[in-house]
Amino acid sequence: MQTIYTDVLVIGAGLAGERAAIEAAQAGFSAICLSLVPARRSHSSAAMGGMQAALGNCAKGDGDCPDVHFSDTVKGSDWGCDQEVARLFADRAPIEMRQLAHWGVPWNRVVPGKSMYFKGGKQFEKEEQEENRGLITSRDFGGTAKWRTCYVSDGTGHSVLFTVDNVCAQLGVEVHDKTEAIALIHDGVTCFGAVARCLRTGELRVYLAKATTIATGGFGRIYPCTTNAVICDGGGHIPAINTGLVPMGNMEAVQFHPTGIVPTDILVTEGCRGDGGTLLDVNEERFMNIYEPEKQELASRDVVSRWMTHHIRQGKGVKSPYGEHLWLDIRHLGEKHITGKLREVYEICTSFLGVDPIHQLIPVRPTQHYSMGGVRTNKDGHAYGIKGLFSVGESACWDMHGFNRLGGNSLAETVVAGGIVGKKIAEFLQGAEVTFNSSVIDDEVKRQHERIQHLIRCKTGTENVYKVRLAMQQTLHVGANIFRTDAGLTECVAKLQEILARARQVGLKSNGLGVNPELSAALKIEGQVKMALMVAYGALKRTESRGSHNREDFQARNDRDWMTRTLAYWKNEKDDLPTLDYEPATGIFHIPPGDRGYGKSEIIKADSPAGTKG
Ligand code: FUM
Repeated sequence: MQTIYTDVLVIGAGLAGERAAIEAAQAGFSAICLSLVPARRSHSSAAMGGMQAALGNCAKGDGDCPDVHFSDTVKGSDWGCDQEVARLFADRAPIEMRQLAHWGVPWNRVVPGKSMYFKGGKQFEKEEQEENRGLITSRDFGGTAKWRTCYVSDGTGHSVLFTVDNVCAQLGVEVHDKTEAIALIHDGVTCFGAVARCLRTGELRVYLAKATTIATGGFGRIYPCTTNAVICDGGGHIPAINTGLVPMGNMEAVQFHPTGIVPTDILVTEGCRGDGGTLLDVNEERFMNIYEPEKQELASRDVVSRWMTHHIRQGKGVKSPYGEHLWLDIRHLGEKHITGKLREVYEICTSFLGVDPIHQLIPVRPTQHYSMGGVRTNKDGHAYGIKGLFSVGESACWDMHGFNRLGGNSLAETVVAGGIVGKKIAEFLQGAEVTFNSSVIDDEVKRQHERIQHLIRCKTGTENVYKVRLAMQQTLHVGANIFRTDAGLTECVAKLQEILARARQVGLKSNGLGVNPELSAALKIEGQVKMALMVAYGALKRTESRGSHNREDFQARNDRDWMTRTLAYWKNEKDDLPTLDYEPATGIFHIPPGDRGYGKSEIIKADSPAGTKG
């Protein structure tokens, strides 16, 4: 068995993980990233529309500053975020955009002069100043007071990931791809690294590290309809959950993006609406202007997705063999704009839909997109429960997004948080003295070896892993979607408990140790169902509506009883429900809870008398 030593082990090689590894490497520490796929195929590369940072360079961003960005982020989160974290982020984002430019990201830039732009289907004029020529420009995104989203056409994630991966290569950060971490090695106090499986040969490897960082992105693939890549399956969360010590934060906070294409759910960027695209119903009429006269198509995602679903429920959806949908209309933006600043949208529509968006409408529906919840950490990225374990990016809940993330705040978070947490990891390593406990390591390797052998050899397992996974996905889709109710969630939890029992009875048809997707799926199915239960059970118990968590039976945001973060633990392996705990949302409240300025707002204020119905 190969044992590999490194100062920092990063599980995941997307933007957040690689950016953190860069900080550690620049401080003189060795860093290895594990990845299911080559680093440049990580899901960060699918991020399209851009990164929010208050540069204030373009005409419509004039007067922007980190204070305004911070305020938009807090409102976007429906006062669910940690305001200290949101403040750290907003202050740091402009510096990080310039750092990326220095590393080579080919940002779109300000071109001086007059130009036309669209908003709500109407045309307006703006004028860019000569003095701003060549500075990083921005586009409009939802829930923002200013145009703040820096972009590289609609291939921002792709450009930034390639750039950051180059920097990693220059600094000697190793990426071990086709390698999956399947368990953390820890003694109940300190994390020593991970046991990983080579996806080519099936061999187990031990990675020993002074600091271990989970940076595996979201867990959208526990839903059936998602913009997430197949690798975003919670594989990094599961080893943390399996410790029984590390809580997941706010797992019920799941974001649905308004514009996944039908039927594949591939993302077409919010940049389409930011650049002036509109949403149309079955009559090819706009409707967001009726529901949200102020922000229209550019209210926050939770709000737009809810109104789209509501509108479909009103009988205004377009019927299709794949279910009802609405239309996204970008035709008026014109060929030059669409094949330039929205060229990936153009490619996606023509390649995956056979739709030419210059002349035709794009079929869209809200679809799972982002996990606000994840491995609960403090604002240094240090996980609760185990020393030496960190998490960063979408896999983490340091709680910058609360119950709804703004578009463009995630891609920015990957690099901003990667930089901040990477520095904290380097500080942690400065004084770190770790004695790797060999019996702890041996025990974990033995446990994983036996688990795999049991699956490979077991003749008694009766359940097919793919059927179990589909049942989990469909159950979550029905019960824990955009609109939630007590009855729906109760049924969802009960069904997921049955599915958990089935997940524990999986048997394999293929017994290869190496390239064996069935084995990979089987190794994580129980953990995935546990995550699904954390989402559904957390949503059942949170009797309020906040951001993307919308309870039809508890319509109000309840600041009196629910200014809390959910902590979900799986304390004993064989439990069939998570243990929920709640952490008061203490800390600094620069912006006291109030109205977001969009979305229907019923609020039970913190000082409302008890007994007020939510
Ligand atoms: O719509 C988009 O381009 C997605 C951006 C994001 O999720 O931040």
